[in-house]
Amino acid sequence: MTEDPDVVSRRIARESLDRDDPTGWFENLYAAAAEGAAVVPWDRGTAHQLLLEWVEESSPDGADKTALIVGAGTGWDAELIADRGYDTTAFDISPTAIDTAHHNHPDSKAHYRVADLLAPPAEWQHAFDLVVEIFTVQALPIALQPDAVKHVTEFVAPGGTLLVIAAARPDDQPDADIQGPPWPLTRATIQSFATADVRLIQLTQSPSPADATVLRWRAEYLRD
Ligand SMILES: C[S@@+](CC[C@H](N)C(=O)[O-])C[C@H]1O[C@@H](n2cnc3c(N)ncnc32)[C@H](O)[C@@H]1O
Repeated sequence: MTEDPDVVSRRIARESLDRDDPTGWFENLYAAAAEGAAVVPWDRGTAHQLLLEWVEESSPDGADKTALIVGAGTGWDAELIADRGYDTTAFDISPTAIDTAHHNHPDSKAHYRVADLLAPPAEWQHAFDLVVEIFTVQALPIALQPDAVKHVTEFVAPGGTLLVIAAARPDDQPDADIQGPPWPLTRATIQSFATADVRLIQLTQSPSPADATVLRWRAEYLRD
């Protein structure tokens, strides 16, 4: 009997985390999924619903603007943003995710790259008019999240927008109670994307359509 792909996915994550390798499991999971041996639980085959809603509400015009999609996975969110006219760069730590993105979107206008959020290219600092971060920070253990948040914020150019979509958890829930991945973000973590010149301008919390007990943040920030 073949193993349940969901069980395989969880085992791949656990093995890597137990080896103190907090990011190695992403490549292992995408590679196993490419062979049909696992499923990538977040791979929706479409852009995230909260990103779609933000695009509908904001009607952003990406002409002559740049965008960066953090932890882009197989590219569905990047394609939505590239279709709005942004010169879009999308990166992921997993080479197989990036290969799959190329395969999924052969005529894409987006630039897909392998890169590490925790050690990003220096030229990306303050370089993007729109930065979209969906579920990457929460996929990292809590001890790594402050560094990840700092890098996400630093990508935003003066006058640029940062959009963060994440699972939410109550501030009074102790870190030790969270058996990640994922490690959902507290309000304090959402507020920590804001700095002296990056302002939180909109914050909503809503239930996930898939599971109403799961709450999600949608946070929008603006760099002065
Ligand atoms: C939970 S998934 C979310 C993927 C996508 N943003 C979405 O919403 O479908 C987290 C993604 O971040 C990528 N990732 C994790 N750590 C990363 C890092 N340090 N640098 C870049 N990408 C990373 C993973 O490979 C994975 O594709």
